[in-house]
Amino acid sequence: MGKIFTVSILGCGSRGQEAYGKNFYILPDKFKIESVCDINPKQIELVQKAWGIPDEKCFLSADEFLKEKRSDALVIATQDRDHVDMCIRALELGYDVLLEKPITPVKEDLYRLLDAQKKYGGKVVVCHVLRYAPAFVKIKEIVNSGKIGKLVCIDWIEQVAYWHQAHSFVRGNWHKEADTSPMILAKCCHDLDLLQYYVESKCDTVYSVGDVVFFKKENQPEGASDRCQTCKYKDECVYSAERLYVAKRECDFDRLEPLPKDKDDARKQGWPFNVVDLSRPITTESIRKAYENSDYGKCVFACENDVVDNQTVLMKFKNGVTANLVMTGFTAFPGRKMTFHGTLGEIEMDEDKDYIRVSQYGKGTETLSVKELMRDVLKEDFGHGGGDVMLVRDFYKALSGEELETTLERSVESHLMGLAAEESRRTGNPCKVHEKE
Ligand SMILES: NC(=O)c1ccc[n+]([C@@H]2O[C@H](COP(=O)([O-])OP(=O)(O)OC[C@H]3O[C@@H](n4cnc5c(N)ncnc54)[C@H](O)[C@@H]3O)[C@@H](O)[C@H]2O)c1
Repeated sequence: MGKIFTVSILGCGSRGQEAYGKNFYILPDKFKIESVCDINPKQIELVQKAWGIPDEKCFLSADEFLKEKRSDALVIATQDRDHVDMCIRALELGYDVLLEKPITPVKEDLYRLLDAQKKYGGKVVVCHVLRYAPAFVKIKEIVNSGKIGKLVCIDWIEQVAYWHQAHSFVRGNWHKEADTSPMILAKCCHDLDLLQYYVESKCDTVYSVGDVVFFKKENQPEGASDRCQTCKYKDECVYSAERLYVAKRECDFDRLEPLPKDKDDARKQGWPFNVVDLSRPITTESIRKAYENSDYGKCVFACENDVVDNQTVLMKFKNGVTANLVMTGFTAFPGRKMTFHGTLGEIEMDEDKDYIRVSQYGKGTETLSVKELMRDVLKEDFGHGGGDVMLVRDFYKALSGEELETTLERSVESHLMGLAAEESRRTGNPCKVHEKE
């Protein structure tokens, strides 16, 4: 048996619990969750109970928690703008770190973190979980196999889904840029990371357009209330909190979800409901009360949101490959779909429709199932196409001394692409990803 690494978790919200804590907990031969920190006592109560952490290893203040090194490794899953300072402090203490993405929306902080990592030497693995998801790994294999010849251009859509847009980017934690990141980083830093991974070249120039076109006051229906519970449209508006969190209590994400229908109740305990309501178990009454008393019950046209609801980015890579990324909240179902156009063939992928189709010009077509590729990991966890659990497994390899696909330098590169796209969107001009070139 190999070494069991001790891990602490700073930020025990949705990602800290569901994506990482839960996946460390099911691998007791590899990890032991040593200590936890969150400023919200309710989250600490939940994780303490779930993972059996003693009182003296539970912290309600990051300053207190970061006074000393408490385990071999640390997961940082707090909000975007806190990551870098916490990570530098952790590196100073000698931790290896699993750091949630986006690293930060501040360019100077990306370089500050790179410098700190060089200075202190610890590992920083950024949670670009899709690099580990079996279907996305398969695409890399196919691109590299030469089956489609030389890659020329990529057409890529990130379908956010109408309910996810409303939940996270209109009402939720990521609705205001000053508190979080521009939407292109918050939602698409996986896409940007994957694009540079497939293209195998740095991005040279980006051009981007996008805006908040729908979720704003001028589109609020006449006579609507600013809160769903008192709104006359609450049963018919597709974005109403009553419909999304209570009447439906299932979301269209079920289409990718491995739970059979008889496990429907388990679905109702999961994301995004468990973010709105910290009661366990969640009931119809508890979730209604939770949305009625939080921002999740606000009218989507009265939320002070300023992150875009759609954005398009055109990219030119240094090796000549071009790509077009569309991110939109206006889709019925979530998931990515894309086409890779090569000189000898093309690869199409649609996560929601469950296929990867490889067509070699004049030679025929081969189709693979995304779900089938995910079959083994689905037994454990389906988050990010199985990427969450696979990343946790690879983090073990990183702690054991192996070099991973996701180095901090590569992760920084995709953030520079996102920040350049945002600058282009704001200024209306094309933008170089690397200023000095
Ligand atoms: N990898 C992905 O695909 C993915 C998906 C969603 C979110 N994220 C990112 O993961 C991070 C966490 O997101 P989440 O959905 O778990 O959010 P969340 O709000 O559910 O969790 C964040 C937790 O951090 C705690 N916290 C905040 N400030 C703190 C502090 N100073 N000290 C200690 N605890 C503190 C909060 O109380 C909360 O419990 C964010 O950076 C987010 O952008 C990544």
